[in-house]
Amino acid sequence: MTTTNSNLLDRIRSKQANIGIIGLGYVGLPLAVEFALAGFNVTGFDVDVRKIDAINQGHSYIPDVSQADMEKVVKSGHLRATTDSTELAKMDVADICVPTPLRKTKDPDLSYVVQALEGVAANLRAGQLVVLESTTYPGTTDEVALPMLSAGGLKVDRDFFLAFSPERVDPGNPTYQTKNIPKIVGGYGPASTEVAAALYSKVVSKVIPVSSTRVAEMVKLLENTFRAVNIGLVNEIAQMCHKMDIDVWEVIDAAKTKPFGFMPFYPGPGLGGHCIPIDPFYLSWKARQSGFECRFIELAGHVNASMPDYVVERVADALNNSRKAINGSKIHIYGVAYKRDVSDMRESPALDIIELLQRRGAVISYSDPYVTTLKHAGHEFQAMGEKEALNRRPDCAVICTDHSTFDWQALVSSEIPVVDTRNALRAFSSPSIVRLSGRALPAPVIV
Ligand SMILES: NC(=O)c1ccc[n+]([C@@H]2O[C@H](COP(=O)([O-])OP(=O)(O)OC[C@H]3O[C@@H](n4cnc5c(N)ncnc54)[C@H](O)[C@@H]3O)[C@@H](O)[C@H]2O)c1
Repeated sequence: MTTTNSNLLDRIRSKQANIGIIGLGYVGLPLAVEFALAGFNVTGFDVDVRKIDAINQGHSYIPDVSQADMEKVVKSGHLRATTDSTELAKMDVADICVPTPLRKTKDPDLSYVVQALEGVAANLRAGQLVVLESTTYPGTTDEVALPMLSAGGLKVDRDFFLAFSPERVDPGNPTYQTKNIPKIVGGYGPASTEVAAALYSKVVSKVIPVSSTRVAEMVKLLENTFRAVNIGLVNEIAQMCHKMDIDVWEVIDAAKTKPFGFMPFYPGPGLGGHCIPIDPFYLSWKARQSGFECRFIELAGHVNASMPDYVVERVADALNNSRKAINGSKIHIYGVAYKRDVSDMRESPALDIIELLQRRGAVISYSDPYVTTLKHAGHEFQAMGEKEALNRRPDCAVICTDHSTFDWQALVSSEIPVVDTRNALRAFSSPSIVRLSGRALPAPVIV
C-alpha cells in the first residue's frame, strides 16, 4: 500500500473525503444524496444552472430523491452544488455521471464524458480518485480517460486512482435504489480497486470488485444487452402469437410459474429510456472495431424498432372494426413517458407512435400526469385530463405507458376502442379492447 493510497483510504473510512459528483441527473443526484446522507461532504458539479440552483435551494427534481432527504442534506451543509469545475481541485473523489448518448449514426457520443474529464484533468492532484460511472464501451476508462488524466505527469495507481463502476439504478423502482443495488468496481490496478471499493462500501450494501476497468464496463453492457435481446425475443413472440391467435400475456404468466430456467420479459410498444435502446450499440460499435459482428444485438434492435409500426397496425385494426381510417381519426395516447410512473421521455416509443400516426393523418391528443408539454417532430402538444379526453370521444385510445394513476375503469366503460400495448387492461374484458397480441377482434362488419 502506498502512502497516497493509505491517506485516501483513511479519509474515506473516516468520511473526511470530499466527494465531487459530476453530472446531477437521474444517476448523479441520487448518488450525491446517498453520500451526503452517509455523512460525507459532497459537491455536485453540473453545466445546467437550473439544477445547481434547485439543489442549493434544497429542491429535488428527481422522483427517486425524496424532498425530505434533499432538504436534510442541503440544510446540514453535506450537499452543495456548483458549475465551477476548478472546485474539483478540492475534491478527494471525482465521480463522473454524465450522459453517454448515441450519435445519429448510432456511434457512441463521448463528448460529455470527454468534457467532464477535461475539467477533472485540469484540476487533478496527487491523492485523488477518479471514477467513471457513465455507461460506455469496454476500454473507455483505459483508452480515453487515462491518457487525459496522465498528461500532467501523475502516475495512475500510484499518484492518483482510476476506476470504472457502472451505475445500475432503475428509476422509479421502489424496491431497488442506489443503496441496495450491489456495486461493481473495477480499478485500473489493485490500489485503484481498493480505494474505489472502500468508497462505495460506505454507501451501498454490497461491493463486487472485478479485475479491471474493462470487465466492469463489460458487466454493465452484458446486463443491458441481456435485457434488450430478451425484450426483442418476447416482442417477436408477441407478433407471432398474434398471427396464431394466442394471448402472449397468458403464455408468459403461465411460463413464469417454472421455478428455474425461465425469466419473464414482457412485450410492449418498443424500447425507451436512456439505457436499453442505446447501450447495446456501444458494445456492437466497439466489437466492430475488433472485427466482430454482434448479430443478436442487431437483430433485437431490428425487432424492437419495429414495435411502433406494429402498434400502428393494431390501431388500424381497431379503427377498421368501426369502419374508420387512421386518416382524420382522433387518437388519444395514454402515457408518453418511456415507462410507468416516471417523467423521462428519452427515446420513448410513444414519440415514434405519435409521429407514425400523424404521418397517416391522425389527430393526436395525450394524457400523462408526469409530462405536461410534449414537443416532438415540429409539433407541440399540451397534456389533457383523462375526463376531458373521454368527453371528446376520440375514435381510438392507445395505452403506450401504464402509469398507475390512470383510471382504466373509466376508459373501458367509455367503450372507446383502445389498443393496449402494456396489458394494462388485463382485468377487463370488452370488445372495445385490442390487445398487443392474441384474442382475435370481433369479426368486422363487411359491407
Ligand atoms: N437513467 C438511468 O436509468 C441510468 C441507469 C444506469 C446508468 N445510466 C447511465 O448513467 C449516465 C448518466 O445518465 P443520467 O440518466 O443520469 O443522465 P441525465 O441526463 O439525467 O444527467 C446527466 C447530467 O450531466 C450533466 N452534464 C452534462 N455534461 C456535463 C459536464 N461536462 N459537466 C457536468 N455535468 C454535465 C447534465 O446537465 C445532466 O444534468 C449515462 O451514461 C447513462 O447511460 C443511466
